Amino acid sequence: MITRDSAVPLYIQIKEFIRQNILSGAYSENTRIPSERQLSEQFEVSRLTVTKAITELVTEGLLHTRVGKGTFVTPGKINQELRTLTSFTEEMQRRGQAAASRVLYASIDPAEEEVARALALVPGAKVMVLKRLRLSDGQAIALEISHIIDALCPNILDNHDFSCESLYQVLREEYGLNMTHAQQTIEARRATVTELELLKIDSHTPILSMTRITFNEQDAPFEYARSAYRGDRYKFNAVLHSVG
Ligand code: GLP
Repeated sequence: MITRDSAVPLYIQIKEFIRQNILSGAYSENTRIPSERQLSEQFEVSRLTVTKAITELVTEGLLHTRVGKGTFVTPGKINQELRTLTSFTEEMQRRGQAAASRVLYASIDPAEEEVARALALVPGAKVMVLKRLRLSDGQAIALEISHIIDALCPNILDNHDFSCESLYQVLREEYGLNMTHAQQTIEARRATVTELELLKIDSHTPILSMTRITFNEQDAPFEYARSAYRGDRYKFNAVLHSVG
């Protein structure tokens, strides 16, 4: 409830009231919250005060508005731990979501310079290139392009359908490639036009751009992947230990 004699501005109190309702589940994911008119009547404040509270929660990503339909609770982000080396399929399975992919490109190509460098190959050496739109419960959440040293997985594209199969599972089970560790970078950037279209996002949605070099037990790199995750659907967390 809000208190009028508090030093905390009314719009902040209303904002916190809405936030608590979202966190407690009283306002559940994808449902519409009460209209600005209802909230202003409930709290006996001006519409402007309510608008200010809602606008801030939209900016923070907790709410979103649908033109002509109202204001809705944005679903929570997928929270991925950075400690373990997992595949997209494993990540989705762990949280009970269905993983699927749309294969946009699959080919054996000469390695571009950046790829060759990451995989310690001579430029032009053959790599399997697999570009997929990755879906979680039917929603596109990432665009991913993986490059695997072709000599390590001959004929992989002839025998597998990566719209439903896991690349890591095939590499492990059929080619005996054991991924032991990976070097991953994550950075924020704006979406490209292609990403806007494929991920069905608007230009305000940030992209979490990742590169991963995956190594086998001989400490040799075999995969170089570039991924673009929807910044509004994904977050990463890590446990940090003090060095002292
Ligand atoms: C993650 C990694 C990619 C890897 C992929 C394999 O998304 N970022 O580097 O290629 O998993 O996924 P899957 O085994 O589901 O095909």
